[in-house]
Amino acid sequence: MPSGPKIGWDTLTTGRTQQLSTATGHNLPAARSSFVGRERELGATKRELETTRLLTLTGAGGSAKTRLALEVGRTLTSAYPDGVWLVELAPLSEGAFVPKEVAEALEVSDRPAQPLEDTLAEVLKDRELLLLMDNCEHLLEATARLVNRLLDSCPRLRILAASCEAIGVEGEVRWLVPPLSVP
Ligand SMILES: Nc1ncnc2c1ncn2[C@@H]1O[C@H](COP(=O)(O)OP(=O)(O)OP(=O)(O)O)[C@@H](O)[C@H]1O
Ligand SMILES: [Mg+2]
Repeated sequence: MPSGPKIGWDTLTTGRTQQLSTATGHNLPAARSSFVGRERELGATKRELETTRLLTLTGAGGSAKTRLALEVGRTLTSAYPDGVWLVELAPLSEGAFVPKEVAEALEVSDRPAQPLEDTLAEVLKDRELLLLMDNCEHLLEATARLVNRLLDSCPRLRILAASCEAIGVEGEVRWLVPPLSVP
């Protein structure tokens, strides 16, 4: 099992500001097949992420958005002190579950009497991590709301999204992933 992000209640309740993250963490699944070609796309996505805090890989179903995002994430685990975390939105039926899914991926506990969006914004405030949000297309409004909130509150957070349609928030850079070529 990958190690979880070192984001603790302890920091919040005691107000300590030390970096808890000593080990690089991620929750990315191991690749089941080799990543073929697409070096140019891989390089371009990584370069774009250096200057963009929200990069959305768009494109038709099956154009390899998820695979590219995962591959980028795998190569960047050591570049983000607080890790690279995948949030899979495909199984969610309602936008209301988006914050919960993000919190679960990051192992952030819900706090009684505080909206989960606020807790996430507070916990991630000083974190330098990459969030991979996959399959946002059916929950664009809820995704946009949370993404807006987190980008505003967490200056060192970067988000790489994979979605048939752009999320539609200010500052988003959209990149249309070209279809896979037929051999
Ligand atoms: N460079 C690659 N090398 C090997 N396999 C790849 C590569 N890119 C994509 N694939 C494979 O092609 C298939 C489709 O890719 P992927 O699931 O990433 O598409 P997608 O755009 O995310 O689709 P959807 O819109 O349905 O989520 C997957 O089985 C994936 O593993
Ligand atoms: Mg996909």
